[in-house]
Order: sequence, then C-alpha cells, then structure tokens
Amino acid sequence: MEVSAIVLAAGQGSRMKSSFPKVLHEIGGAPLMVHALKCAGALVPEATVVVTGVGADLVEEAACAWDPDIICVWQEEQLGTGHAVLQARDALEGLGGDVIVLYGDTPFIRPETLDAMQDARDTHDIVVLGFELDDPDARYGRLVTEGEDLVEIVEFKDATPAQRALSLCNSGVVYADKAILFDLLDRITNDNAAGEYYLTDIVAIAREHGHKATVVHASQSETLGINTRHELAEAEAAFQAKSRAEALNDGVTLVAPETVIFAHDTVIGRDAIIEPHVVFGPGVTVESGARIRAFSHLEGCHVGRGAIVGPYARLRPGAQLASDVRIGNFVEVKNAQIDRGTKVNHLSYIGDATIGEKTNIGAGTITCNYDGVFKHRTTIGRDVFVGSNTMLVAPVSLGDHSATASGAVITMDVPEGDLAIARARQENKPGLAKRMFERFRATKAELMKKGDS
Ligand code: UD1
Ligand code: MG
Repeated sequence: MEVSAIVLAAGQGSRMKSSFPKVLHEIGGAPLMVHALKCAGALVPEATVVVTGVGADLVEEAACAWDPDIICVWQEEQLGTGHAVLQARDALEGLGGDVIVLYGDTPFIRPETLDAMQDARDTHDIVVLGFELDDPDARYGRLVTEGEDLVEIVEFKDATPAQRALSLCNSGVVYADKAILFDLLDRITNDNAAGEYYLTDIVAIAREHGHKATVVHASQSETLGINTRHELAEAEAAFQAKSRAEALNDGVTLVAPETVIFAHDTVIGRDAIIEPHVVFGPGVTVESGARIRAFSHLEGCHVGRGAIVGPYARLRPGAQLASDVRIGNFVEVKNAQIDRGTKVNHLSYIGDATIGEKTNIGAGTITCNYDGVFKHRTTIGRDVFVGSNTMLVAPVSLGDHSATASGAVITMDVPEGDLAIARARQENKPGLAKRMFERFRATKAELMKKGDS
C-alpha cells in the first residue's frame, strides 16, 4: 500500500527558550526533525511533507539537506495539529493510499512500531499510536477505547476528571487512509478549550461516519516528545545508551562505554576497539578491526580495516583512511585520502591532500593548504619519506619514493626518487656558545650588584 508522510514542525517550542525552532535542536548530531524523517523513511513513503511555521527557512534548509525531495509547506499561523495536517493536502494531491503523521519533535519512534500500525490498517481506517501513563496530571490527550476500537481522543484541557484518569495517552502519531483523513479534517472545528483545530477530533467524527479507528501501543520512552532542554538532555542520554548497547551487541569493544559519544549514523565494524572518551560526529564509518584510541574526535570520515587512530587525534570531514593507516597524537586530517599502511604519527596537519601507500609523514609536518583566499591540494606519492617539520606549501606534489629533509619548506614539486632540501645551510661558530653565555652571566652579575647598592 502506498504511503505518504507528513511531519509537523511548525511549532515554536517556547519552552526550549531558544532563538531557533525546536525541531532543529540536535540529538546524536542530527536535528530532532531528521530523526522523525528517518523514522518516516523506514516506510519508504511516496512523498514526504514537512509542515513548517516558526523559523520556516531554517527548517526547510535542514529538511532539504537531509533529503532534497522533501516538500516543505508553510503553515502561516499555528492553528492546531489538524490545521497543520491540512496544509499538506495540496502537496499530496494525486497520491492515493495512506498517510502517516509524525511530529518533528518526537525522535524515537521505531520502524517496528510503524509496521505494527501498517498492519492494523488492514482492519481499521485510522490507527493511533498510544502509550500508558498513570498520571492524571500529565497533559496528554486521552484515548477512549471500547475493546480494540478507539472511540474518541479527548484533549487534556477538555477532559473530565474521569477521562483524565484514563492511563492510555495519545502520542500524536496517526496512520490513516489518506482520503478519509482529509475528508474528516474538513469537518473539524476549533470549538474547544484551546480554540485550536485538533487532529485528534477526527477519531470521534470517523465513528459518526462509520469508519473504524484503533490503537497500537508503544512505550512512553519511544513516544517521548521534546519540549525543554531537560528533556533534550534526557533524550540525548537515552540515545547514547541505546547506541552504545547496539555497538556492543554488534561486536564492537567499548572499553568505557559511558564515555563514548555516538552520532545518529555512526557505523562501526565488528572487532573494532573504541577506547575511552571518543566522540563520533555525524558521517563516520569505522571498519572491522580498527582501533580508535582515547580522546579522539571524528566526523565525516572513514577509517579502514586495522587502522589505528589517536590518542588525541582529530579526523574532520573528508578524511579517508585506507587499511592499516596510523594517525597518531595531535594529528588533524581533513579532506584527505591516505592510502594503505601510511603513517602520520605525531603533531601534523594534513588537509586537502592525497597520500599514497606506505608513506611516512614526519612529526610536525603541515600541508599549508590555505593561502588566505583559496584552498590548494598536496599530492604525495607512495613510499615517500617526509622529514619532520616539513611545510608543504600547496599546490605541491612529492613523487613516489621521494623524500624531504626535516625542516624543509617545500614550494616546488619534488620528482620521483629525489630528496628535497629546502632550508638554510648550517654554519658552526667555534667556541661561540661558551663565550656568549660567559658574557651574559657577567652582565647579569654586574646588574645585580648595582641593584644591591
Ligand atoms: C498533541 C495532541 C495530544 C497528544 C500530544 C502528544 C492534538 C490536538 N493533541 O498535543 O493529544 O497527547 O500532542 O505530545 O493533536 N504543530 C504544528 N502546527 C500547529 C500545531 C502544532 O505544526 O498548528 C506541531 C508542533 O510543532 C508539534 C506537534 O504539532 O510538533 C504537536 O503540537 P503540540 O502543540 O505540542 O500539541 P500538544 O498540545 O502537545
Ligand atoms: Mg506537545
């Protein structure tokens, strides 16, 4: 069955106390909304519509960065969740099948749960995701059921004490026949305690029209929505705990799991070892048997099989390490391909570079890639020996099997097999050090004597 997704993301989220739209606050390095979009993506929707409102430009930019095919529609005034869903109608014109409605601030819905909702659609026109919460003061909509049928959703503000005592609450996720959904939404009013067009009102109206609704149950942790910085921090902690558990289950060694920070898309192969205090930003893949040593920071990079990174290394976007590469302490790599078995072990910056296999980059080497306006590339061949503290002033290339003397400032290409020496020639002054320090000490003694008198 064809399905389209609608993600509601128009709200201000005033309790975040932020200048940015709530749905752009991040968990695991991705905006809350992207988590909702990933979740919707599990159903492989025909079309995905994001309803924007507050900070629409920023929300649209983030949605398109995630998937350029996403359609954003603007809800000029936030008149309620039902009104929000209606904004997506034109964008979904011509598509049949079902619609799933998700909230941009609810990041943890599992694909299995959406599958269960899809299954429930076989027998019901509307499927609502509910969760149990035994708290009569919790401000969620309450689900009124009869057997497996959902009869009505009552918003907290409009609920009687008896209804507030119901423990089954509305998560907000709705899976429905598209034509029926929009037909019912045309019939809702804002005649309620909040003066809003409630999406939830479709359930009672559906029943009047002979349509059937039901509930699929999820845990409260899964349906958790983010409203405050406290909830954001708790959700981040929950996300990290889940990611660490998944990595361990997948055969990754985490020496001190609670100190490792994952991103939403981190991929780590089996038998990789992650030492304490490693941070993964978005877009990292680590192959089997690699070792990421303590206090390293990685984002947008690939670490090949058997490579060793760190301690205290930084891999930035576009760092591609082939198998058995060594990146040591206080080394930064950005937008650089480093081939098999090559070593960059100490205190280096490698940016906008290509390095061949089995090359050794000496301590303190820097690719001087930026001239203040443009970036330039450094190309280093295979089996090259770059002496310590070499400055490679890009654009420049070092041929295969070449070498640079330590302290060299390389401004011209070095042909294959050559040794480049690019520094002032050394001169020794016989006895000068000894004489010089004797003079300094004598001067100092004289000055101290004057100071005493
Ligand atoms: C909603 C549900 C409630 C449920 C709760 C779960 C309704 C009427 N109520 O209440 O039953 O228990 O969520 O968290 O649906 N939004 C828009 N445009 C609008 C209004 C809202 O895009 O005009 C978006 C918000 O940005 C948010 C989501 O819809 O992502 C939910 O809106 P919110 O105002 O938080 O609804 P609740 O009052 O919490
Ligand atoms: Mg809410």
